[in-house]
Amino acid sequence: MAAFRSQFECRNDDVFLASFPKTGTTWLKALCHTILHRHDQEEEEDILTKKNPHQVVPTLWSFLSCYLPEEVTRSPAAAAGCRKLVYLARNPKDTVVSMWHFYNQVHKGSAGPLSVERAVESFCSGVMPWGPFYEHVLGYWEESKKRPDEVLFLKYEELCGEPKEQVRKLASFLGRSFPSTTDGSVEKVLWRSSFGRLKELEVNKYGAVGEQGLHLSHTIYFRKGTVGDWKNYLTSDMARCIDQVTQNKLLGTGLSLDDFL
Ligand code: A3P
Repeated sequence: MAAFRSQFECRNDDVFLASFPKTGTTWLKALCHTILHRHDQEEEEDILTKKNPHQVVPTLWSFLSCYLPEEVTRSPAAAAGCRKLVYLARNPKDTVVSMWHFYNQVHKGSAGPLSVERAVESFCSGVMPWGPFYEHVLGYWEESKKRPDEVLFLKYEELCGEPKEQVRKLASFLGRSFPSTTDGSVEKVLWRSSFGRLKELEVNKYGAVGEQGLHLSHTIYFRKGTVGDWKNYLTSDMARCIDQVTQNKLLGTGLSLDDFL
């Protein structure tokens, strides 16, 4: 922690993005980059056509040889003094399903596939890669309540459901408001960062990026990109188990992580 503190300091204009894995980090990186650079990029110069979003906005852990201490992963802005932090949350059932697919992709060939039953059991008993999930979300949720001018809390489902409003909110938080509602610039940002576009770009079909000692193909970050895919994988018992844990963990916090379906 001390070493981390002494090596990492936010500059005044840095924007810190935080999210639990598989909650839409790739999207958030693409969106923020596109918003911040929308004036100085013509189509052919859009760096997202040449690099995967994780290369454009590298993950902090890529620079470290070990896992970040819990204190930092829970509230890095508080630890490092960042003035602008955007957190993206996602409903737990889609997060579990996305994580389960991701896990099986990463370990393909090396171990037998993890069953969805095991993945849900493990999540419901509080064990998850990069966990604990709820403590992570709630840490940032509380931070956003304490410092609303400095911490913006977004939800994947709201970005999908009302993309223009959410992108306007994000841009205004980043100090890059859209002056007009009719010139098509919000739509352009959304399109440039969209799942459909990014997934089809050559750069994201090939190549790999290093994450926490793993060599991950660019394709792995683009699976389905929808809300409610959990319905295709979870039984009603599994969904109930996750809902129960979610209800208990979020009780009295004022936060909901619904999928709106
Ligand atoms: P699914 O597995 O449900 O499809 P992360 O970026 O944190 O690893 O999260 C990955 C999830 O975000 C995956 O969800 C992925 O498909 C989805 N995703 C990636 N890029 C996206 C985009 N531009 N828009 C919406 N969802 C996206």
